[in-house]
Amino acid sequence: MAVNYKDIGFVNTREMFKKAVSGGYAIPAYNFNNMEQLQAIVMGCGQSKSPVIIQVSSGARKYANQTMLRYMAEGAVKMAREAGYTCPIALHLDHGDNYDLCVSCIETGFSSVMIDGSAHPYEKNIEQTKKVVEYAHAHDVTVEGELGVLAGIEDDVEAAKSIYTQPDQVVDFVNKTGVDSLAISIGTSHGAYKFKPEQCTRNANGVLVPPPLRFDILEEVEKRIPGFPIVLHGSSSVLPYYVELINSTGGKLQAAVGIPADQLRKAARSAVCKINIDSDGRLVMTAIIRKVFADKPGEFDPRKYLGPARDELIKMIVDKNENVLGSAGKA
Ligand code: G3H
Ligand code: 13P
Ligand code: ZN
Repeated sequence: MAVNYKDIGFVNTREMFKKAVSGGYAIPAYNFNNMEQLQAIVMGCGQSKSPVIIQVSSGARKYANQTMLRYMAEGAVKMAREAGYTCPIALHLDHGDNYDLCVSCIETGFSSVMIDGSAHPYEKNIEQTKKVVEYAHAHDVTVEGELGVLAGIEDDVEAAKSIYTQPDQVVDFVNKTGVDSLAISIGTSHGAYKFKPEQCTRNANGVLVPPPLRFDILEEVEKRIPGFPIVLHGSSSVLPYYVELINSTGGKLQAAVGIPADQLRKAARSAVCKINIDSDGRLVMTAIIRKVFADKPGEFDPRKYLGPARDELIKMIVDKNENVLGSAGKA
């Protein structure tokens, strides 16, 4: 049976984005596919009084089961309210790649969907995105489209090299599709290996420093669609502390490099009003679980390693909201 997101307690992203653009901050969009991640996102954003977008990829939907996920998300809103947190929460489909998937999510309580037609030729991207917008807007659900291609490999999101967004296309795309927000490609990419070592320089401590994001493209986009909500995918910082903890406890992540926090802070002050973070959460959980296993090889109660991983993820989320996205206190 179809369910409306408003009855569950979610909001769409329209109001959130309006406030974020005028306030010079970005709404965090954190991915989840299990209970501990979801608890950490809601608790971290509740504690830091930040609006939040909880997002689900099609891979996550397959992994956790779509019915299970729908009730988990509903439970997360209830848990937040019982804890006294009043922050607005949107439930978003991340990288939806077809119309039927978007419809299915909207019917099961999503308040926002992304239709990612970036792998298609321009005209096909417009056609598919417009079709999703028509269905979504009839249900007061907001839609994110994408122009330009991000490099990087995830379970279901893959591209060999990035193709930057062409600012000359954005007015036409936004007008023809009716999207509520636009993901653009300015040098971010998915996963923990965002840059090849040869693209980076080394600072005095030998740490790899990636090339800066293409703020010139972002500025050109902003000039053409002033105040329109822009989204940045692939925005994990791949925090060195957790990469080192993984490696020192038997893991093997070599030359993992993310987007420096100061670049994200600069983007958040502009028309970028949604910043997507998944890999950082994965790294935190993996690092802490590894540490527990290294320190206590006899441990076999999942609560004893998933619990500390969840607690550390809450800390990371509070820190991101306060010091990177600027969304803390804006709920
Ligand atoms: O942008 C992709 C997200 O990080 C989701 O990744 O498809 O592995 O769930 P996933
Ligand atoms: P990261 O892999 O940088 O966390 O990006 C996540 C993302 O863009 C989800 O859509
Ligand atoms: Zn993404």
